[in-house]
Parts: sequence; C-alpha cells; structure tokens
Amino acid sequence: MKTVTCTAPVNIAVIKYWGKRDENLILPVNSSLSATLGQNELRAKTTVAVDPSFTEDKMWLNDKEQSVNTQRIQNVFREIRRRARKRKGDGDKSKIFSQKIHICSENNFPTAAGLASSAAGYACLVYSLAKLFDVDGEISDIARQGSGSACRSIYGGFVEWQMGTKADGSDSFAKQITPAQHWPEMCILILVVSDQKKHTGSTEGMQTSVQNSRLLEKRIEVVPERMTNITKAIKEKDFHTFAEITMKDSNQFHAICLDTYPPISYMTDVSRQIVRFVHSFNNHSGETKVAYTFDAGPNACLYLLEKDLGRVISLVNHFFPAQDNGLNLKVQGLPVSIDKP
Ligand code: PMV
Repeated sequence: MKTVTCTAPVNIAVIKYWGKRDENLILPVNSSLSATLGQNELRAKTTVAVDPSFTEDKMWLNDKEQSVNTQRIQNVFREIRRRARKRKGDGDKSKIFSQKIHICSENNFPTAAGLASSAAGYACLVYSLAKLFDVDGEISDIARQGSGSACRSIYGGFVEWQMGTKADGSDSFAKQITPAQHWPEMCILILVVSDQKKHTGSTEGMQTSVQNSRLLEKRIEVVPERMTNITKAIKEKDFHTFAEITMKDSNQFHAICLDTYPPISYMTDVSRQIVRFVHSFNNHSGETKVAYTFDAGPNACLYLLEKDLGRVISLVNHFFPAQDNGLNLKVQGLPVSIDKP
C-alpha cells in the first residue's frame, strides 16, 4: 500500500468569489483574493492511499463514510489520474493511475459553517493525491474543480485566484501575491458566532445570485479595480487601504446575497454587532486598526496587526462575553483563534 498524509489550512477571502460562469469546471465570474492561515489552526488533515487490492474508491470525512460519486470528487480523480498517466506513461508497471483510492479526512473545526472547510478539504485532497501519484506542476486548477476557493489554499500568504477568460479553464488558477513572511505582523482573529451548518450552501447561493441579482452584474465591474488596489496595499503594507477594501467587499457580497431572490442572509444580529464594534473601535482609535470580513455564514474574521491584538481581544471578551450572554458568540480557541497567514 502506498499512503500520503498532508494538512492544508483554510483561507479567508478579502475579495470574495461569488458566482460561476461555468458550473462544471468551476470558473468564476470574478477574480478573488485571500490569505491562507498558518498550518496550526483551522485545517484539514487528509490521508490518501492506493493499493492493488482496493476494489472501489472510498472516502471518510470526520469518521463518516461519504459518497465519492459526486461530480466534484470525480472531476478531481479524473484529472489527477489523467496527469499521472501522462507523466508515467502506459508502460508503468505499477499502473498506479488505475488503482482505487481510499481517502480519510478530518477537519479540526466545524464543517460547512462558513469557515471555508471545503477550501481546506479539497486543497488537502488534491495536494495529497498529487504527492501520491507523483503529479507535479500547477495543481491549483485541479483543487478549483473540487471547490472554487480551494485553489487559493494550495499556496501560503496572500493568494489571488485569477478568474481567467478561456472556456476550458486553463488560465483560471491561483497565484501567490506575497509569502506569509512579507507581512508578519498581520493576524487573523476568528469569532465563531455559530458552528451550525449554514442554511444555504455556497453553490446554491451563487447560482441564484447569478440568475437574478442585478447588483452582482455591477460587482463584476468593480472587482478588477479592487484587486489592483488591494494587491498594491498588501505589497506596500498599507493596512488602512487593505482594511477599507476588505470591509467594503464583504459588505457588497452580503448586499448581493440580500439582493438575490429569494434573499439569502448569512449574517446574524451578532454579526452586525461585530461590524458596529469594529467601526466604533476604529473611530475611537482615530485610524483603521481592524477589518472584518464574513463568508457564507455568520462568523466574523477580523484582520488586524499584532500590536493591536491584545486590546481587541480584551474588548471582544468584554462586549461579547463567551458565556451566558444570550448572544451565542463563541470564541474559537483560548480565548480566540489567532493565526498569521
Ligand atoms: O469555494 P466555495 O464554493 O465554498 O465558495 C466560497 C465562497 C466564499 O467563501 C463566500 C467567498 C470566498 O471567496 O471564499
């Protein structure tokens, strides 16, 4: 038996991916940008194995067997096997590309609660399979076919997913903008408002938004300029500009969700209280020190610089005490999950 085990962290988008132009190949309607967390916090861990005695492909996620007969898993298998066959040639004695695969994966955080679990999961799966089958070169386009945002978790630091323009998706992949060491003071703090499974999955939400949100049409025009400006801000370590674009993009994404018919609301009253908290903290500080962003769920991801962490954590604990406050705000870790991209 040949096995490989890898871990991959989640990534937190500051320019959101929302909407596909090709559902099967997972090609987006706009480019997006995120930071990948460090290896120690929210991450998927996956072991993949092949053996000539395996009779079928199988997968277990968090100890429960899952079907591998989904289009996304099948797309990933097909692409990995195709590249392995191309690399090794049909003469390869082991014929590893025709052996059945067993996958065992676990997340150390709530699955499907809007914490980018599928991004970490598919990035980890594709990376492990690529190692197992000796596939090298660009693999973020394979991860993309599992879950769009997964392509960004293939790389560390700040990462861009270029939407590309080609119909076959060959120019739609992730690219690192800066490694994590470029901006070591940058931290992400995750406030877990709810670890329940989200009511509208991102696939379904995106489909409806593309079908009927007029605001989404407008967004597509706005994103290229935002991508240019936030990339510049990251390279120049200009936190103020970075934070302003991040918050505006999160707000626009959730406005599109509300503009979708029937409307989708991922944020809750607690999420909105966190938004107000961040703006009033920034106002009182006389400068922008914290940026919030929310994915397809109510949980807040705060971007801030290390020097401000202590103060923000104590204020969060003061205004959102974790116990018996009726707000159901849980902070991840002790007392909050802190990680550097
Ligand atoms: O990759 P998916 O299908 O889970 O989509 C994720 C979309 C958002 O998390 C809401 C935004 C993003 O860019 O990560």
